Amino acid sequence: MTEFSKIEPSYISKEGCRIIWKGIDEDDQDAIILNKNELEHLTELLSKESTGKVELEDEFSTILVNTDTTQFQLKEHKTLEVKTSILRKNILEYGKVPHEPKPIKIYPKEFFPSIEIQDDNEEKRNTLLDAILTAKSKDTISEDQLFRVMATRRSTRNFDTTQPVEQWKVDKILAAADTAPTAGNFQGFEVVFVKNKEIKKRLVEAANKQPYVNAPIVLVFCMDPSRVKMNFPPETLSKFSLQDATLAAAYSQLAASALGLSSIWIGMIDEEKVKQIIETDLKPSSILCIGYPHHKRPPKSRRKLKDLIRVIE
Ligand SMILES: Cc1cc2nc3c(=O)[nH]c(=O)nc-3n(C[C@H](O)[C@H](O)[C@H](O)COP(=O)(O)O)c2cc1C
Repeated sequence: MTEFSKIEPSYISKEGCRIIWKGIDEDDQDAIILNKNELEHLTELLSKESTGKVELEDEFSTILVNTDTTQFQLKEHKTLEVKTSILRKNILEYGKVPHEPKPIKIYPKEFFPSIEIQDDNEEKRNTLLDAILTAKSKDTISEDQLFRVMATRRSTRNFDTTQPVEQWKVDKILAAADTAPTAGNFQGFEVVFVKNKEIKKRLVEAANKQPYVNAPIVLVFCMDPSRVKMNFPPETLSKFSLQDATLAAAYSQLAASALGLSSIWIGMIDEEKVKQIIETDLKPSSILCIGYPHHKRPPKSRRKLKDLIRVIE
């Protein structure tokens, strides 16, 4: 159960706001992000003491302002409620002063997996990578049954935030990314593992306000064409790095499934905003959000295989 808590500035723009609901736990928080127009419309309704509806830009969510209660009906989320008089007081107070997003300085660090290796041999296949990939295999469900993993994988947008993801599983998901094929084996991608809570919340805003981007594990897959040392035009190198980053994310997504986790692939991102938030010059290709799902669901259906494939004989 969450209760309305406060209105605070948007993380990435000085217009709009975040409406916060808090639960018992510190992590038990819901945030509705309103853009400039949505906030203006809501403010207008509340200031005139009228009832009405504000449609949010995701085209699914609406705010229903009634005399007593205001309901936030959201895509893939429970309805949130607040007394209209309380919301009115808070929204009108909020509008009285200008707000600036608070900058956060980030200090990216090196990633240290939970396994330690004396000598990481780069001659053959890296010893550390292999050690991570083969560790604890027996404890996991069907990890080596690749086809079973493919047949059962299902995206989730509803993570159980009370169940943390074990470090050794994170290691494997990251190592899986490193096993993907890349153009010329130049590994034209980089993964940014976002642990910082505030940065995760900002990424929600940069991902068309999709709330599930604030997931237990958040990986931003970025393209790095400068690593692809091949004598091809820049567009080709850029395409290769996009494909490298995409494949790596797909490998991590399958690894997460094999480990009993679920994920959602986020392609709907504002690349410039993500770059600013995670402080990189590299273009992000996707964000992979991972965690334990609230409910395990069966895989979605697909078109018939015969409609997918055309044979040229
Ligand atoms: C390129 C790409 C972009 C996607 N972007 C989003 C996104 O921005 N938001 C979202 O909720 N899901 C996104 N998805 C997830 C798809 O909606 C999901 O994979 C699809 O409905 C199939 O469901 P399944 O993964 O359970 O088989 C994306 C998937 C792909 C491959």
